[in-house]
Amino acid sequence: VTGDAWAEGDLALLWGSARETLLLRLARGPQSVEGRGVLDLSLQIGAAPGGGITWAGRKFRLLRPSLSDLLGALERRAQVVSPKDAAQLLLLAGVGPGNRVGEAGSGSGWLTVVLAHAVGSTGRVYSFDRRRDFLDFARRNVERVGLAPRVEFAERDVAVDGFGTNSLDAILLDVPEPWAVLPGAREALVPGGRIATYSPTYNQVERTVHALRELGFEDARSEELLLRTIEVGEGGTRPAFEMLGHTGFLSVARWMGGPW
Ligand SMILES: C[S@@+](CC[C@H](N)C(=O)[O-])C[C@H]1O[C@@H](n2cnc3c(N)ncnc32)[C@H](O)[C@@H]1O
Repeated sequence: VTGDAWAEGDLALLWGSARETLLLRLARGPQSVEGRGVLDLSLQIGAAPGGGITWAGRKFRLLRPSLSDLLGALERRAQVVSPKDAAQLLLLAGVGPGNRVGEAGSGSGWLTVVLAHAVGSTGRVYSFDRRRDFLDFARRNVERVGLAPRVEFAERDVAVDGFGTNSLDAILLDVPEPWAVLPGAREALVPGGRIATYSPTYNQVERTVHALRELGFEDARSEELLLRTIEVGEGGTRPAFEMLGHTGFLSVARWMGGPW
């Protein structure tokens, strides 16, 4: 909980400026930081978060990392779900503390980290990918931000083998052919469970939403989020000229557990 004293092994955000941040685990004794040199944070253990240090002539604050700080420390390989879309996917899929959530594919593990953060210490994320190299990459990212105890990874083609359970509160799909996964998802969801998909193209959305309706999911719909940054200046506050024009479309539906 924010405000508690630092303990050995805690993840800390070293905040120099918005452009200079670093995620580190608190350890006793000097630790080497790749490309940066050596740092000893022993004195912080037992102290309250928010304290300052000087390292190599620069000042840093030691803060508890938030979800967006964790995302900033991840590495990417496959196309990842952007934070704005990941946040909305949580709402659409109704993911919260204590939930059991299925996910495919793991990819770089970005969405996995968001899900693991949302389900809390009592929840569980089951993350599947049909490629071992992606699973390993995603697992390393989840470990990097200390959320590994909440996630189980498995190598599986969910279009062929489904999710191997019937008790998921929500399923999130970021795969090229979500429609092929829906029959298995239907078996895996509890009544009232929700499925949410992330797809870059209209063709995928159309095929997915049609399949959701045909398979008896309720309230199938799609949406897109456009994020515009506002440049705040003296008397000249306006939207930034450039914006990311397209990331992906979000589709969602509810499973009621069979015919009424
Ligand atoms: C775009 S990436 C997912 C990125 C991930 N959401 C993230 O935020 O880092 C898509 C992944 O889905 C996996 N995949 C595609 N079809 C699959 C299937 N039928 N079953 C399991 N994984 C699948 C691919 O191997 C790939 O790693």
